[in-house]
Amino acid sequence: MENLNFIFSIPTVIIFGCDSIRELGRRIKELGGAKAFIVTDKGIANSGILERIKGILSEDRIDFVIFDEVEPNPLDTTIEKGTDLAIGDSCDVVIGIGGGSSMDSAKAIAMRVTNRGGTLLDYVGVNKVKNKPLPIIAVPTTSGTASELTIFSVLTNSKDMTKISIGSDLLTPKIAICDPMLTVSMPPSVTAMTGMDALTHAIESYVTTVATPVTKALALESIRLIAGNLRRAVSRGEDIQARTNMLLASLLAGMAFRHTRLGIAHALAMPLGSWDIRLPHGLANALVLPYVMEFNLPGNLEGYAEIAVAMGESPGDTLRETALKSIKAIKELIMDIGLPRNLKSVGVRKEDFDRIAEEAMKSGNLTVNPRVCKKEDLISILEASYEGE
Ligand SMILES: [Fe+2]
Repeated sequence: MENLNFIFSIPTVIIFGCDSIRELGRRIKELGGAKAFIVTDKGIANSGILERIKGILSEDRIDFVIFDEVEPNPLDTTIEKGTDLAIGDSCDVVIGIGGGSSMDSAKAIAMRVTNRGGTLLDYVGVNKVKNKPLPIIAVPTTSGTASELTIFSVLTNSKDMTKISIGSDLLTPKIAICDPMLTVSMPPSVTAMTGMDALTHAIESYVTTVATPVTKALALESIRLIAGNLRRAVSRGEDIQARTNMLLASLLAGMAFRHTRLGIAHALAMPLGSWDIRLPHGLANALVLPYVMEFNLPGNLEGYAEIAVAMGESPGDTLRETALKSIKAIKELIMDIGLPRNLKSVGVRKEDFDRIAEEAMKSGNLTVNPRVCKKEDLISILEASYEGE
């Protein structure tokens, strides 16, 4: 290997395992928290999960306030409302409980409490955050986004309904409590979509131009785990082993892409989650991933061949033949877990392709994609995804 250089750092303390949620009170105290601001959504608030967490915090004599107004694709206005409440209640630690929306909202609220200048939109972009946020603890209840250890908070601008992203090392949660038992009640469709998000993270990270032996090892193991467990997790939600392996896979993919960034699928998923299109993030990735892989294939034939083998395919006669099997494996997985297979079937309009491609071209993820792409290439990928089988 020529001149190997890399930096690898995960500042988040990861506490993984069934019933690890019992650690929450102790960890809040460890961070010096006297009053916790819990950020979540109505689904979690009405499930047994929040009751359980309230019980744990009461037992540990931790004062807390609950903000359960996080919506899918959370709006900047929701963040500002949560921030005012957190300040009004003098909370000193923020806990995000839920999927990507709740964890990303927790990050943005924790940031906004200590960064009061301007509006939330002034912090959109990379490294615009000046002051240290309140300490953040992330508690994922889905296995996909890996927001529990990334630097990003992805939100929606209420003025034009575009997706916006705040990226800063300061937004990385201090602690992630990853308890597979909290993912058991996730419905099959959410399990399928979030699982495809995790798989897209792993695949895109694996083939980037900046992947290192460490990120590749993490991404490949994530791909193996998802290929072996996502069908089971969707088919039988109570399968603790499948749930454990999916949460682990999501975490490993997050560790990888935290260092590499992603690719075309994630560049397209941002506008596909914007405006009136508003596809769930994992579904947007699943719909375009096979066609992004077809386009990218010449850029990293070896990488896609290794992905095919990790997904359980046998090697073909040539490297290209093996690499092509990765696309076949992805399409079969999407079919088995019951997700829609083309943009047409979810109501995305061809008239929107131009503005979707235009918006996607702004994504930093394209800089590490294995094949250089132009706006016309993205439109061709969208056309293939529209008719996809
Ligand atoms: Fe993602």
